[in-house]
Amino acid sequence: MAGRAALVTGGSSGIGLAIARALGQDGYSLTVSARRPDKLEQAVEGLHADGLEVESVPANVAREEEIVALVERHRDRWGRMDVLINNAGVGIGGEIAEHQTKHLDMQLDVNLRAVYITLRESIPLLRQAGSEHGKALVVNTASIAGKFGQPWLAAYSATKAAVVGLSQSAHGEIAKDGIQVTAFCPAFVATPMTDWAEDRVPKEEMIQPEDIAEAVRFLLRTSPACIVPEIQFVRAGDLMRAT
Ligand SMILES: NC(=O)c1ccc[n+]([C@@H]2O[C@H](COP(=O)([O-])OP(=O)(O)OC[C@H]3O[C@@H](n4cnc5c(N)ncnc54)[C@H](OP(=O)(O)O)[C@@H]3O)[C@@H](O)[C@H]2O)c1
Repeated sequence: MAGRAALVTGGSSGIGLAIARALGQDGYSLTVSARRPDKLEQAVEGLHADGLEVESVPANVAREEEIVALVERHRDRWGRMDVLINNAGVGIGGEIAEHQTKHLDMQLDVNLRAVYITLRESIPLLRQAGSEHGKALVVNTASIAGKFGQPWLAAYSATKAAVVGLSQSAHGEIAKDGIQVTAFCPAFVATPMTDWAEDRVPKEEMIQPEDIAEAVRFLLRTSPACIVPEIQFVRAGDLMRAT
């Protein structure tokens, strides 16, 4: 059995990959998952090249059975889960008046339903870790758009606000089991998700994925008595805007 183990969804790029790398560097055995197998393999090769212990499991988290299988694969490989990074997400912009139902459904499925189901399936393992050392950690990647609804991102904002609410509810249920739940609420982070905005905000002026990974390290270093329900990460000048 691994000493400490983490499951990272949406781990093939951006925020998830940076968190996976930081956790691996800090000695965690990793299961890294994402939807597209080729892209995931490429990311995991990079982690292996850094000498990190990684199990890679492609899974489309819009499908419940793939989430169930993902958590089972993690359990079979590592036998424990100390950290869950519930991070896979999609953002599809557009006015409510024009938004297609299939795009609304995709964001609900990936950004909210999958976060709920992945947490549910992981709770038994997290409880074991929490009872062992009092410091199991769940990070649900929400967004600053979940704190302040953004125009042209209504569906995305609604799913991310729901993730903040889900995280608070989960805290009420499982904090007593030694499991901390923290919602991350970043504004623009320099990842492929924000490529479309590069003309307006250069990548070097965005929050860096490694900044978000450092916050995971912080949460793992605090005492079990110190609960951090959410962290907002914003850019200079405006607390309320994603951009
Ligand atoms: N970048 C920002 O400015 C920002 C700000 C606030 C919050 N966030 C949130 O941060 C999280 C990570 O985003 P990112 O910026 O790092 O974007 P990213 O680089 O595009 O990464 C998104 C990750 O999610 C995975 N994913 C998407 N749909 C999936 C599905 N159906 N099943 C499984 N995996 C899926 C992607 O894998 P595939 O490529 O294989 O689909 C990829 O690994 C998301 O929840 C996002 O909403 C981002």
